[in-house]
Order: sequence, then C-alpha cells, then structure tokens
Amino acid sequence: MNMTKRTIVALPGDGIGRHVLEECIRVLDKAGFDASYVEGDIGWEFWKSEGNPLPDRTIELLEKHKIGLFGAITSKPKDAAFAELDPGLKEKGLVYSSPIVGLRQHFNLDVCIRPCKTYTGNPLNFIRRGAGDSIEEPEVDVAIFRQNTEGLYGGVEWSNPPDIVYNGLATHPKFKKNFGTVPREELSISTRIFTKKATERILRAAFAHAVKFGYKSVTVCEKPNVIRETSGMMYKMAQEIQAADFPGIELWNTNIDAQMMWLTKNPETYGVIVAGNMFGDIVSDGFAGLIGGLGFACSANLGEEVSVFEPTHGSAPKYADYSESIVNPIAMVESACMMLDHIGEAEISGRIRSAIAQVIMEGKVRTYDMMKMTGRADVIKNGAASTRQMAEAIIAKL
Ligand code: IPM
Ligand code: MN
Repeated sequence: MNMTKRTIVALPGDGIGRHVLEECIRVLDKAGFDASYVEGDIGWEFWKSEGNPLPDRTIELLEKHKIGLFGAITSKPKDAAFAELDPGLKEKGLVYSSPIVGLRQHFNLDVCIRPCKTYTGNPLNFIRRGAGDSIEEPEVDVAIFRQNTEGLYGGVEWSNPPDIVYNGLATHPKFKKNFGTVPREELSISTRIFTKKATERILRAAFAHAVKFGYKSVTVCEKPNVIRETSGMMYKMAQEIQAADFPGIELWNTNIDAQMMWLTKNPETYGVIVAGNMFGDIVSDGFAGLIGGLGFACSANLGEEVSVFEPTHGSAPKYADYSESIVNPIAMVESACMMLDHIGEAEISGRIRSAIAQVIMEGKVRTYDMMKMTGRADVIKNGAASTRQMAEAIIAKL
C-alpha cells in the first residue's frame, strides 16, 4: 500500500526553535515516518524585515498541507518590537502581534491539548512530603484542554476606548459608577468573550478524550463564582453535555486559583482538565512544572482543517547561538508524537514515546535541565547531553 507521501510544514520560528525542530525531524525520519518537509517563514526575522511575523506565503503553505510542526517564537511587548522594525517600515503603523496566536486565530485552531504525564525516572519529577518523613512522587497523568481562540486572547481590547465603548460604560446603570467617571485616556479594556460554539467544541473534545483514553473525570477549571457569565456558561454547558452524552465520566469543577494550589497537593487526582484560554495557559504551565518543566511540555492546536503542533517553551534566544545547542528536544519530539497520533500514525508515535521513556529511565543521557544545571555554554563540558545527543539517544532506542 503506497499512500501519497505527506508534506509537513516545518515552522522553525525563532531562537532554539530551529535546533529542536531539526533534531525532531531526524527522530521522525529514523522512526520511519515517511514525509517531506517544506519550511514556512515565521517569527521575529520576518517582523523586522517585512513588518509581518506571519507572512501570507506561510498561511498559504498551511492551507495547502494542513499540518504544521512549529519550533518556538519570540514575543516582545509592543514598543520593544517597534524599536527593532526595519527603519523603512516604521511609518506604516505596524503593530507586532505573536504569530502563534495569529495562526490559532487565522485557522481557528480552537482546541488546544496539552498532556502532562510523568516519565518514570525523570529527575525533575515533582516530589512532596507524605506521612512521617516519607517522600512521595505522585504520578501525574493529566490532559489539559485549553480553548485556544477566545477569552482574553480574542483581541477585543482598547486603550483610550472609542465612543461606542466608552459611552456604553458611562451610561450603563451598573458600570457607570466605577468606570463612567474615569477620563477615557485613563482606561484600558481587555475583554473576555466566550461563544457557545467554541465552548461546546472544547468541552466535547475534553469529554471525548476522557472516554477514549479511560480517564474517569473531566474538571472544568475556571472561576464561575466571580466570572459569572463566561466561566458560568462553560460550567453550565459542561453539566448539560455530561448529563446528555457522557454520563460515565464524572464532572468536577475547580477554581483556577485553588487548582494552582491543589496542583502540588494532589496532582494525581486529576484526569482531563478543561479551561478557557487564559486559565488553560496558566494551568498547563503549572502541571508542566510537575513533570519536568518546559523541556517536557508538548501541545497540539487543532482546527477543523489545519493543525499545528508545538512545544510550549519559548525561543530561549540566549541559547540560540551556542556552537552546540543545549536545550532539551523532548517537548518538541513529544509534540511531533501528537501530530502522528492526529494523522493516524499512532504506531510510530508509540515507538518514539517508548524510546523516550527508556532514555529517561536509564538516566545516562540527560540534558542540562535534567541535571539541574543553569543553562550555559559549558554544561556540555560538565556532562550534560546536547540537543543532538539527546535526539541520538532516543534514536538508538527506536
Ligand atoms: C503558550 C504561550 C503563548 C500563549 C505565548 C507565547 C503567546 O505562552 O503557547 O502557552 O500565551 O498562548
Ligand atoms: Mn503559555
């Protein structure tokens, strides 16, 4: 059976993105994933030179091939970004915005999945005190479902808001007292909009995942006691969906603040967690910290047509120019495994994951983060594995 060969859009992005992506593709090749790769331009370089970190040609590549494998991106605040723009573009009124957020919006990649699963033997695993003086190492196996396009990331925001917004506040019986008397130049507003359609999609995706992978519970992690409309709607819809279609899955409800505390008390209790955009961002970093930090945090951004897979670490620009890359490629390789699962290549992803598990369990090859070193050029001299060596170790176990 010879199906047409897949083309994957490789999006290295900034800084160490290119290093981890290159090593990841070597692992994929060696694992027998038969694909070709086209490179899409994205990131800081293209902001500086073209005033657009997400050029149309990259959008077109993704439209055509549907699957993107993304390295990492640098994000800087508005003013810092403007300062680095090509002088010839400075008069054009361009404003930097994160191209990964741009991709999520453009292709409506509204379902974000961030699994956080303990690897046995990872020296970075979270430990806690148990009874007496015992040390416990809880096994975390959580899948976070983050709504990826709306909420605080929806982009509906203003400083010095226009009439229609300002007057809406100033004339509203409830809002005018606190905000209607503030001079408008002193107001900044970022909205948190949830739609039923997107909320239902993330909830259903979360429940379906629980059924498919045998998790007993889905936890809605929001703040419905205070944010009554959006968080409240999400929880109410979760109750309805659970009752109608997923009676075998327990529905739990936590507040984001309490969840961040319980994270270190009973992380093994949770299964699937579902949240809006900002809280999903927060809780996914929290759980990632329990399983080894950003070097292990992978993600999938799924749309109905296009999907993009990325490690959730940043671009670590300070490490980007080392003669030998030191960063841990596992988050990138794990993200590629999510891609493989998504396109029906679970046999290959299964083999890669078990190779990673063996390398971690053996403990002979460890990147600097796993050796609890500070990231510096000399970590390799001091016994840490390079990005390349970690990839080689994984390949050797395939
Ligand atoms: C993430 C990151 C991004 C986000 C940043 C880089 C825009 O933190 O993917 O979690 O906030 O979504
Ligand atoms: Mn984040």
